[in-house]
Formats: sequence, C-alpha cells, structure tokens
Amino acid sequence: MASAGNFSARRRNFISLSILAALAAPLARANGFIPGTAPARDLARDPMRPTFHFLPKAGWINDPNGPIFHNGMYHLFYQYNAALKITGGMSWGHATSRDMVHWRHEALAMAPVPDSPDSFGVWTGSCLAVDKRVYAVYTGVAKSDVAHASVHGDQELHETQMISWSDDAGLDHWKRPARTIVADPPPGMKVTGFRDPSLWRQGGYFYMTVGSGEAHKGGCVLLYRSRDLATFEYQHRLVGADWNGAPADDGGDMWECPEFFPLGDGHVLIYSTEGRAHWLSGKLDTDTMVFHPAKQGVLDTGAFYAPKTQLDAQGERILWGWVQETRSSDAFEAAGWAGMISLPRRLRLDTDGRLRMDIPAVTKQLRAGSLAGKRSGEHAVFILPGSNGEVVCAGVKDAPFEVIVTAASEELLRIAFAPDEHEFSAASRRIPLSVGDEPSVHLFVDGSVIEAVIGKREGYTTRFYIKNAPDITVEVRGEGVRAQAWSVSATPT
Ligand code: FRU
Repeated sequence: MASAGNFSARRRNFISLSILAALAAPLARANGFIPGTAPARDLARDPMRPTFHFLPKAGWINDPNGPIFHNGMYHLFYQYNAALKITGGMSWGHATSRDMVHWRHEALAMAPVPDSPDSFGVWTGSCLAVDKRVYAVYTGVAKSDVAHASVHGDQELHETQMISWSDDAGLDHWKRPARTIVADPPPGMKVTGFRDPSLWRQGGYFYMTVGSGEAHKGGCVLLYRSRDLATFEYQHRLVGADWNGAPADDGGDMWECPEFFPLGDGHVLIYSTEGRAHWLSGKLDTDTMVFHPAKQGVLDTGAFYAPKTQLDAQGERILWGWVQETRSSDAFEAAGWAGMISLPRRLRLDTDGRLRMDIPAVTKQLRAGSLAGKRSGEHAVFILPGSNGEVVCAGVKDAPFEVIVTAASEELLRIAFAPDEHEFSAASRRIPLSVGDEPSVHLFVDGSVIEAVIGKREGYTTRFYIKNAPDITVEVRGEGVRAQAWSVSATPT
C-alpha cells in the first residue's frame, strides 16, 4: 500500500529496469507490434497460464483501459509492458472480441512518445465515442524534478491528463502525440497522485473525473468540465466534503482509477485505493454536480484491482478487473508473463442502492463439457482436470453450505454460507446477503487463478501456483444444494 507522497512499493521496485522498455516501445508501435510477439517465446505450454482469461502473449499486463463496444466489436485496451514491470514504457495494448470471451490480439494502440508528457508511460484511462470518433483520455507520465512531480519514489514523475482519438473503424490508429488537456493538479493541492481520467457526456458538457488524494486527508475524485474536449475547467471534488473518504479497511490516501456512471436509479463510483477496489452508490445532484454516496462496498477482496467498466451490446454495465500476481517478481519474470484480465462481471443496482454482481451468460459459450461429479446425499465432489473448469452452486436460505477447493490436498479456497447470519465468508471476508438473496457461488478455475462471485454480491479472486496443472477438487456440502460443473475452453490467448 502507498505511504503518503510515495508511489507504492510494488511500483517503485520496478522503475529502473523498465527504462529500456520506454525506449523500445515507440519503435515497436511503428512496426505494428503485437504485445508479446517479441521476444518470441512459446508460453502456451506453461500450465499456470490461464487459457480463457485474457492476457497478452507475453509480458506484463495491469489495468484494463477504456473498454468500449464500438462498431459491433468489443475493444479492450490494457496497461502493457514488455519488460514485465509496472512503470516505465507502459503502453496501451489492444484486443478485440465479438463476444467478450474470445479475444484477438491487436497491435499496440498507444506507446510513449519521446520528449512528450507521456515519454515515460501511457497510463490508465477511458474511452468515449462521439459520433464516429472514439476519444481516449489517459494519464501521460514523464520524468520530472521533485517540485513538479505528483509521483514520488525512486523516480520523480509528472502526471498530465491527455487526450487522443481514433477515426478508423477498428480503432487501430490513434493520434500521436496526444493533446494535453490538464497539465497540473488544481492550484494549492499537494496531491498524492493525479491520474486515471474517465470521461462522459451530460447536458451539453463533457465531464471528466481524475483520481487523486492528499496525504492524511484521504483519496478523492476531482471533477473537470469541458465544452469542446480541448479546454477543461476544474469544478470541485465529485464526492463532497461530507464523505470522509477513507474506507474502513484501507488507508486510502490516493484513489486510483475512479469511474462514475449511472446505474439503476442511482449513480455508482468505483475506485481503487492501492489496496482494494471499492464502490459507492448514491445520488448525483445534477445542479451542483456533487455526488452524495449512501452505500459502499468492495468489488472483490482478492487479487483483483483497478477495474473499469463499459456498456455491453445490451446496455448492461460490465466490469473488468486486473487479476494480479501474488508470486514474487523473480517467479513471474522467470515465467515471462504476469497478470490477466478478469472475466466480465455484470453490475446492477438494487432499489436500496446495493450493488449486485454476476458473471454474464456470454461465458456459457466457454463451456466445453459437463463434468459429472460424484454425489452422495448432501455432498457433491467435482474433479476439474488440469486446473480448468467452472462450478455453479445454489443453496437454500435456511441451511449452511460450503464450497471447498483443493489441489493435491492443499486447500485453496473455502467459501461458507451461514444461514443464521445470512452471510457468506471467504478467507477472512464476510459477505452479508440481502433479505431476498438466494445463497449462490459461481467459480472458475483457470491455470493459476480461481475467480469466484459470491452470493451475486462480491467477487473473490485468488491465485495458486502449483506446477503441472493439478486436478482441482471442488467439494460442495450442504442440504438442498444444487451444483453443476463444466470444463472450459477458449482459443488459447
Ligand atoms: C493502477 C495504476 C494506475 C496507473 C497505472 C499505471 O494499477 O497504478 O493508477 O495509471 O496503474 O500502470
């Protein structure tokens, strides 16, 4: 987690070696470089590599960026670094899909431009379609002196909000160098960071949020407004002073990757606190443009961070997150790849303002074959061969149930439903259900990741690193529990 005024340790450790990548990336773009194809290396046979979660052919991936459904295609951009590092040379990778589950690698969309405000990295941002043009706002990062830096650590970095655009149907070509739209944080603010813009259109204006914060005061979301996407004016903090900002379980001095959108009868803000990904729901006062949150929660307590959303072809709100590595950097450098993007998760808002989450039906296309399992009384056991599969279970409200995932007799995950409290637990996390909720667990196992959605309320993503893709045992215990399992297949990414 970040300490005041410092970029988090996980990033700092990575800075020096990645300067090489910063230099290499612009050249790569000119050649239509597809992430992971250079250096050539066959990682497909690594049993820990997921086969149906999206990741580049090799190298580092972190945040999903600017996901958008455009001209009948899903476009997913993402933070990509060939050098397996989180800073220095970060670019926007690009992938396309017709269905959000089968992906095609495209050439890098945007790489750092030397001697420009993004010479050290093209960081996270969002896309917005305006007629036939798609705009991308993002944070350009360049080396700086201490006085002008908003990221402090081994390197002092200046963050600039920038805009680029693409006019071609496939979103292959982006305006480079991009245009600076906000060069510095609001005067007088000593920020802990200033990044990850997100854009929307409302009532004759374009609005943009930027993630920020102040040491010991907490994270915040800055709101900007523009008529023409060229000049942006700072308005105020989107979340008013009545909100103390710091989530109970997190330091929260810097809010990364904020995104604000209408959902159901209200509005939702998602943001990441260099520890966890959170949500707030409430009402937007459209006269003052102040958001009044009323409910809060966590999107996923596991290895899931910096999510972004988009609307799918049906207008449903879909969430994508970065599934992080939990092994050492030595281990993932030796493997040649790090990180992946979560499966799509559909978000809805209950009338009481609570967020609902499930895995959309499109993922059923990935089901390759039903797994019979062994059932006896209130007990079902499924073997997922080669660390691959999907399990769906639904319990009853008044009986306890448990889902236990093991590999080679090592317990990887235990999810339990307690009817008296009407809540789930997963590791130390408690997930209370709402009165009408049926207890359910939906989980996927893919190489070295278990991604679960619990009670249609919250995610829990965990990583395991066991050589040779062991068979995974999923045991489901409980009165009246219905459970089904499938093997899962997609064209290997
Ligand atoms: C979140 C984040 C963003 C930043 C990006 C850099 O993981 O730190 O705030 O823009 O990653 O890759």
